[in-house]
Amino acid sequence: MANGSVVVVGGTVGLGRELAQAYADESREVVVTGRDQGRADAAAKEIGGSVRGIGFDLAAPHTIAAALADVGPVDHLVLAAIERDTNKVQEYDIESALRLVTLKLVGYTEVIHTLLPRLGESSSILIFGGLARDRPYPGSTTVTTVNGGVTSMVRTLVIELAPRRVNALHPAIVGDSPQWVDMPDERRKALVDRTPIGRLVTMAEVVGACRFLLENQAINGINLSVDGGWMCT
Ligand SMILES: NC(=O)c1ccc[n+]([C@@H]2O[C@H](COP(=O)([O-])OP(=O)(O)OC[C@H]3O[C@@H](n4cnc5c(N)ncnc54)[C@H](OP(=O)(O)O)[C@@H]3O)[C@@H](O)[C@H]2O)c1
Repeated sequence: MANGSVVVVGGTVGLGRELAQAYADESREVVVTGRDQGRADAAAKEIGGSVRGIGFDLAAPHTIAAALADVGPVDHLVLAAIERDTNKVQEYDIESALRLVTLKLVGYTEVIHTLLPRLGESSSILIFGGLARDRPYPGSTTVTTVNGGVTSMVRTLVIELAPRRVNALHPAIVGDSPQWVDMPDERRKALVDRTPIGRLVTMAEVVGACRFLLENQAINGINLSVDGGWMCT
C-alpha cells in the first residue's frame, strides 16, 4: 500500500506533467517541480487533486536541498527535466552546455541525494534519457553525452541505493508532446517513415512505460527504449 508521494522533477509541462496527471487522477499525493515557483504552483493547480508545486533550478545544485526540505516520504521519484541544448562543436556555447550537463548529471544526482532518507526500501526512481544517446544528429553532442551518462548512472545507482530500484526511459521523439506537436509536416513524415509502427510514439504510451518501470517490483537497472521499433531500422 502506497504511503508516500510521487515526485516529478520537471513535472510542470510535457511528459513529466502527463505522468503526474496520471497519478493525481488516482488520488496519489504528487509533487511537480520546475524552474519557477509561480509556474509550478499554476501547473499543480491545473493538474488538480493532491498536487503541489516547487520551483528550483537543477542547474544550481547547491539550492536543491533547501527547496526540497519539506517533502515527506516518497514512493516514486521521477527525474524528467530538460533544458534542450542544440550546440554544434564548431560554434560551441559553453554556458548552454554547462547548464545541461549540470542539470542532468549533477542536479538529478543531488535530488536523489537529498531525498534518499525519504525513499523507503520499496521505493523506485525513474530517470529520463532519450534516443539521441544512440542516434546523434548535428548539434546533439551535449544531449547525446548526458543521455549516455543517464545510462551509466542507472547502473551505479542500482548498486549504491539497493534495495531501492532505479531505471531509465529513453523515448524517441514523442509526436504529441508539447516539444514536438507542432513540428513541420516534412520532418514528421521523415521520422514516421523510419519508425516501424508507422507513427511516432505517444505521451500515453510513455506514461504506460514509466509506470511499468516505477511499479513492477522486479524491474531494476533497465534502460528502456520507447521508440516504436526505431532502433531496429
Ligand atoms: N518530448 C520528447 O519527444 C522527448 C524525446 C526524448 C527524450 N525526452 C526526454 O524526456 C524528458 C521530458 O521531456 P519533455 O519534452 O516532456 O520536456 P519539456 O516539455 O521541455 O519540459 C521540461 C521540464 O523540465 C523543467 N525544467 C527545465 N529546466 C529546468 C531546470 N534548469 N531546473 C528545473 N527544472 C527544469 C521544466 O519546468 P519549467 O519550464 O516550469 O521551468 C519542465 O517541467 C526530458 O528529460 C527529455 O530529454 C523527451
